[in-house]
Amino acid sequence: MRPFLAADKLIIILAGICATVALQTHWEYPDRVNNGTEPSWGGKCDAGKRQSPIDLYTTSSFKGEFHKFEFKNYDVSLRGTTFVNTGHSVQVIIPEDKQIEVSGGGLPGTYIFEQMHWHWWSEHTIDGLRYPLEIHLVHRNTKYANVSEAVQYKNGVAVFGVLFHITDDIYEPLTDVLNGLPSIEDKVGSTTTLANDITTADFLPADTKKYFRYEGSLTTPDCDEAVVWTVFEDTIPVTIEQVEEFKYVRKDDGAFLESNYRSIQASYNRAIIYVDRELEERNSQVQLSTCSIPITILAVLLVLRSRLD
Ligand SMILES: *[C@@H]1O[C@H](CO)[C@@H](O)[C@H](O)[C@H]1NC(C)=O
Ligand SMILES: *[C@@H]1O[C@H](CO)[C@@H](O)[C@H](O)[C@H]1NC(C)=O
Ligand SMILES: [Zn+2]
Repeated sequence: MRPFLAADKLIIILAGICATVALQTHWEYPDRVNNGTEPSWGGKCDAGKRQSPIDLYTTSSFKGEFHKFEFKNYDVSLRGTTFVNTGHSVQVIIPEDKQIEVSGGGLPGTYIFEQMHWHWWSEHTIDGLRYPLEIHLVHRNTKYANVSEAVQYKNGVAVFGVLFHITDDIYEPLTDVLNGLPSIEDKVGSTTTLANDITTADFLPADTKKYFRYEGSLTTPDCDEAVVWTVFEDTIPVTIEQVEEFKYVRKDDGAFLESNYRSIQASYNRAIIYVDRELEERNSQVQLSTCSIPITILAVLLVLRSRLD
């Protein structure tokens, strides 16, 4: 154990306590290794009509165009932030004072980044295809004091789902996170801090112009139906070995958390919007046409003048 400053230590202990409090109600993912049955999580998880995740089909979505996302402080270093084994995932807790925020992109407000965690195998599927890994960047609407309050309101929470695809080359920012795993994977509630200068932007895809947008829920109990979802179409490269490292995270019963994705939920005829370009492009056309009015007047004047001559 390396020495911490007293304040750092206190924050880490508090984060640990918060994580433990959140673990009070016991629930499990399906045992996919042994073809286990789907456990019932109760409440809204079973009865809700706007649950997540869902399968996203380009061909059955509505075409949409929104203004571009405004990302604030997505490039600040996350070195030193708390990284915790929650027993259902591993999660990076973002301190409020980092002021990492997003607006635009059709989001109904400004949202502040709270935490990010991973699901190994993806929760969302696109055109029926499952991806090896999905990260959730969880934000809350700044008009609410905290996530527990925000989840009580429609669109109180905005989650970015970013999918990863398998390739040959390791994804360095993920390696920087995985380096912290050995010290927390054995025990639920244990924490460490991120040791490298990774940023939030490292976990956005290169192209943030193309995405699916729909109204859904948290994918873990209590499955609150408070989430405005953005699932990007572009994906982040990763190796299969990097993904496999997550499988050594242990649950509270000591067993390995082999996978942590919820099954696809019924869409109940929900609107799914597919955005493939920014609204801005049309604004520049508007400017062009306002510019063309004086040109038209000038042309008319020139014609009139040539007649008079
Ligand atoms: C998994 O279980 C279901 C029902 O519980 C069964 O229908 C299916 O054949 C099983 N699949 C395998 C590969 O054992
Ligand atoms: C969240 O904010 C509400 C309203 O300010 C407050 O009553 C509640 O105690 C807060 N909860 C947590 C977990 O901080
Ligand atoms: Zn999640």
